[in-house]
Amino acid sequence: MKRSPEALFDYITQDHEVLQIFKHHSVRVMYLATLLGKKIEHYDEDLRVAALLHDIGKIGIAKEILLKPARLTLLEKTIVESHSHIGNVIVRKELGKTRAAEFIRDHHEDWDGRGYPRRLIGEQISIQGRIIRICDAFDTMTYDLRNYNAVKKSHEEAFAELERCAWTQFDGNLVDTFISLIKEVELPNRWYDTFDVEVFKRTFPQVENPYHFF
Ligand SMILES: [Fe+2]
Ligand SMILES: [Fe+2]
Repeated sequence: MKRSPEALFDYITQDHEVLQIFKHHSVRVMYLATLLGKKIEHYDEDLRVAALLHDIGKIGIAKEILLKPARLTLLEKTIVESHSHIGNVIVRKELGKTRAAEFIRDHHEDWDGRGYPRRLIGEQISIQGRIIRICDAFDTMTYDLRNYNAVKKSHEEAFAELERCAWTQFDGNLVDTFISLIKEVELPNRWYDTFDVEVFKRTFPQVENPYHFF
């Protein structure tokens, strides 16, 4: 019997310190991607699952590498970058969700073809992969522990960075839509430090709560 995406997430994350750290990040990315996906009418269950499980391929990567407080060596970078491919395999084989797996594979592709793993260009990248790319970058800049090389950014600073990288890293149209959406929503102060699902629900009444996360 296939596991549900939520069960897979919990199963894989329960004893894994690194993925515990990324769990909250993943849930936030899921909400952000759902919001953006609905706005441009590309939301469906596969997008939600892909956003929730986008970093599931980090299972097995040593935390000394994933949380290294310094620049990664070329080899370490290659190892970390393998997570979008590994995530694709896990979600395809474990959940049988081929589409969601493809969106996960695409979540580090860049608009200008300089991303990974396939160096796709522009609209060759699934729109769902482009959606997750932006939501992931925003959350990473404003919270995530991987963001060692800079002080965490305010929302305004993160918007400026998204705009700076529009049409190189990101789909510029999606950047515009994302920024106006987040300005409208006004993320609550507790957004980054709560696991309280009620906060998520109040913030995103338009996003159904798919399960009890915590
Ligand atoms: Fe990732
Ligand atoms: Fe991520």
